[in-house]
Amino acid sequence: MKYNPINPALFIKNRSNFMAQMKPSSLAVFNSNDIFKTGADSTMPFKQHRDIFYLSGADQEDTILVLFPDCPDPAHREVLFVTETNEHIAIWEGEKLTKEKATEVSGIQTIYWLKDFDKKFFEMMTQCDTVYFNTNEHYRQAVEMETREDRFIKKCKAQYPAHSYAKSAPILQRLRAVKDPIEIDLLQQACDITNAGFRRVLNFVKPGVQEYEIEAEYLHEFIRRRSDGFAYTPIIASGGNANVLHYIENNQPCHDGDLILMDVGAQYANYASDMSRTIPVNGRFTDRQKAVYNAVLRVKNEATKMLVPGTLWKEYHVEVGKLMTSELLGLGLLDQADVQHENPDWPAYKKYFMHGTSHHMGLDTHDYGILWEPMQAGNVFTVEPGIYLPDEGFGIRLEDDVVIQESGEPFNLMRDIPIEVDEIETLMNS
Ligand code: GLY
Ligand code: MN
Ligand code: MN
Repeated sequence: MKYNPINPALFIKNRSNFMAQMKPSSLAVFNSNDIFKTGADSTMPFKQHRDIFYLSGADQEDTILVLFPDCPDPAHREVLFVTETNEHIAIWEGEKLTKEKATEVSGIQTIYWLKDFDKKFFEMMTQCDTVYFNTNEHYRQAVEMETREDRFIKKCKAQYPAHSYAKSAPILQRLRAVKDPIEIDLLQQACDITNAGFRRVLNFVKPGVQEYEIEAEYLHEFIRRRSDGFAYTPIIASGGNANVLHYIENNQPCHDGDLILMDVGAQYANYASDMSRTIPVNGRFTDRQKAVYNAVLRVKNEATKMLVPGTLWKEYHVEVGKLMTSELLGLGLLDQADVQHENPDWPAYKKYFMHGTSHHMGLDTHDYGILWEPMQAGNVFTVEPGIYLPDEGFGIRLEDDVVIQESGEPFNLMRDIPIEVDEIETLMNS
């Protein structure tokens, strides 16, 4: 791992919070991700499943966590199974978690080799009535492949048909949505690395540069700061490409007079950051670009103020829609008749701003959270309004990541990333 060690107090607390919500006489199982194959013996880089990471800090393939809070054997209340390693294996496979290191990372005292899983698990299953499975219930999930978790669930149901089953997802959705101060610090580090990448790019961009060269500048700055790389596939969209919301080709030249919409975030210690900035290729906004830019910025700033405990995500979006409508009227993009005759299911502003304003952010870029429950302190949301103008050859999105606080004052993790027109022009021309 490139990232610095994380205080295991985080994982100890996360497990304790999870176990406090389990039914009597139950255990919960969490599997790591597979290493995905690309063909022959080639593989994609390993990405740990966020849930086992959240509960153990174990950032390694072939790992299983079992939580069994009222196990009669106290040593089996928290058990981590990891792939066997020794000095000989280390020479061939590289460094893997030893039992001592696994305890140091996770705070779990009982570490077994994975080859002993079936036997140990059988013993634990004879002592409980219910098994928690970790199915994916994220509101955006659309995974078609069979995961390691899915295979485990199938096998477990076949071997232990007389047990009852329960779902980990609702517990994790709520727990992971409220960030611990250690997590806020990790998210801040991810945002700070993104800031460094953006500042590097402000110095680099000039007419004729290719979108992929900008992507490379970000990656260089991210990796040299111990980032794991991009938190998601970056969007470097110059000119009209900005109006393709999920543009990820990043293979076009940036022309004098155009804007570049960049939706880019560094990942640090598996924690995401999610930033959007829009800058002029030649270092100066035109008056029209500036007017639209400042309209988006005002919506972002006003929307941020609504990210307070108690706000309902759905109502918040209605309010942001009103702010955006007013800005679009000011820009002459909508007129009163458009608004009076609008379809309430697809209001007029959606012609220019067709995506949501905010999503939970954390270990996943689109993180866990229950959208119909009121916002609460410790939630982290993006704020990302945009105006997209294909007829004018540009689109603007501005996106920050914000922590909801008890005090009611939202805390912007991206407060140091330049966003004002003057600041961006000054930095690009210095
Ligand atoms: N970068 C993904 C998003 O903004 O939701
Ligand atoms: Mn984004
Ligand atoms: Mn986002």
